[in-house]
Amino acid sequence: MAEAEDVKFKVTIDGIPVEVAPGTTILNAARQIGGDIVPPAMCYYSKLEGSGGKCRTCLVKVSKGSEKDPRPMPKLVASCRTTVMDGMEVQNITSPEVVEARKGVVEILLINHPLDCPICDQAGECKLQDLGYEHGSANTRYEFDRRTFERIDLGDKIQLHMNRCILCYRCVYVANQLTDQRVHGILGRGDHSEISTYIENVIDNDYSGNVIDVCPVGALTDKTFRFKNRVWFTKPVDAHRDCPTCSGKVTLWYKGEEVIRVTARKDEFGEVEEFICNTCRFDQKKTSDWILEEPTEIDSRSVISANHYELFNPPKVVKENPILQQQNREQLARTEKLK
Ligand code: SF4
Ligand code: FES
Repeated sequence: MAEAEDVKFKVTIDGIPVEVAPGTTILNAARQIGGDIVPPAMCYYSKLEGSGGKCRTCLVKVSKGSEKDPRPMPKLVASCRTTVMDGMEVQNITSPEVVEARKGVVEILLINHPLDCPICDQAGECKLQDLGYEHGSANTRYEFDRRTFERIDLGDKIQLHMNRCILCYRCVYVANQLTDQRVHGILGRGDHSEISTYIENVIDNDYSGNVIDVCPVGALTDKTFRFKNRVWFTKPVDAHRDCPTCSGKVTLWYKGEEVIRVTARKDEFGEVEEFICNTCRFDQKKTSDWILEEPTEIDSRSVISANHYELFNPPKVVKENPILQQQNREQLARTEKLK
């Protein structure tokens, strides 16, 4: 058994070798290398079982199948759904074919997606916006009108703006896997597909707010944050609380001294580290509800880092409250120890 666990497959992605366990997908092998060679993933989400295979943004070229059978794969493959073979060679950004195909995928995704970034709450955090900048073309060849829908309130905290949805299914998996009562899904086929709540049933359970965090675009937004600010004018700070329902580990988004949004913490691939409950997300918006840790680490390429700051400047409520100060000192000392 121990021997089987030790077996590793050697894969090369854009010329960089990595050894991974059998069964690992090309995408996850690339994530182990990290950096620019990681294919973009709009629908795959490592924490959601069954996700992936819907958007085709993660296409790569397998130029050598394996050591045993070195023939290249005849077509580009979805890296989130293709597992590695020993000796496999993969091209992502080094393949002009992949780069061209990705452009096509972005064009398709944008056929129905409105270019309303200037008023969209997701701007600055939108994976499609990033993809559009990296791979999009300035023009579209599409001559028809985009699909349009009325906005739908999913309860009092979440709004669905179907115009922006790219049908990645992540929110459906969240509802399926995190909550005990899924009331929404994708109805219709092809161009008629849409997220629907079976006549707008309210999504009302402890973990429903996570659909907002997993949505790669601005189709599902937090109504308590909508139009409050541009994300690059906010200051994200990691914080935690003793929560009976979830881990209580979150990011607080400050505007001045006000917490205007609470989200789960996200990793370098834009995925949440741990799903959080609705109480933490929607009902705990005072600094005194939290033990602050440190400024959230933001990728230097993100527009949010335009406001990045190295030194932690605690909000007024912390400066004035000796108990919070002490809690923060202890927490920071613990964090330092872990570094
Ligand atoms: S609403 Fe968002 S998360 Fe749900 S399918 Fe559409 S794009 Fe994906
Ligand atoms: S991330 Fe692979 S198909 Fe969407």
